[in-house]
Amino acid sequence: MKILILQGSPRANGNTAWMAEEFRKAAEATGHKVTLVNAAHKKIAGCLACEYCHGKGNGACVQKDAMQELYPILAEAEVLVIASPVYYFTLSAQIQAPIQRMYAPFKPAKVKKMALLLSSNSPNVYDGAIGQYKGMCTFFKFEDAGIVTAKADEQKTDATREKILELVKKL
Ligand SMILES: Cc1cc2nc3c(=O)[nH]c(=O)nc-3n(C[C@H](O)[C@H](O)[C@H](O)COP(=O)(O)O)c2cc1C
Repeated sequence: MKILILQGSPRANGNTAWMAEEFRKAAEATGHKVTLVNAAHKKIAGCLACEYCHGKGNGACVQKDAMQELYPILAEAEVLVIASPVYYFTLSAQIQAPIQRMYAPFKPAKVKKMALLLSSNSPNVYDGAIGQYKGMCTFFKFEDAGIVTAKADEQKTDATREKILELVKKL
């Protein structure tokens, strides 16, 4: 399957980037075609709610920033993986921007499944992020392929790698 991983941590060698990279390696080893995008390192603005996309734009966004490179990849993706650090009990601002800019095509055309990778310092801080993720799965009728979380003492560990491998195996 074609998999798009959106990585939303600004820390290039951080815990979220590690989880996204482990997912990429495991998925490629299983024969999937993976595109990993470090969304936090791209200039992607928030949605303007101008509705150009749903009028004259006919699905195209009026903002000509790095999201334009992402739209064609998103249009082909069959699995969408969101990888984010937990910032104030929810997804990072850097990952919210590309998620909310999906408003232009409204629904990624070929996505059938979604997965979520979360990194945090503390335990029990995932409800906000998971609520949004599950809401998207329900609303868009995406299968929830699985969630892997890693708090401080679980980061970059074999146990977390194993959980990611298990998730990838079930895709
Ligand atoms: C702005 C900011 C907000 C954060 N908020 C939380 C939080 O609400 N709960 C928590 O457990 N950790 C919080 N953290 C810690 C990060 O989630 C944690 O260090 C995570 O592993 C960072 O991932 P990274 O290595 O990919 O950057 C926060 C960190 C930052 C920079």
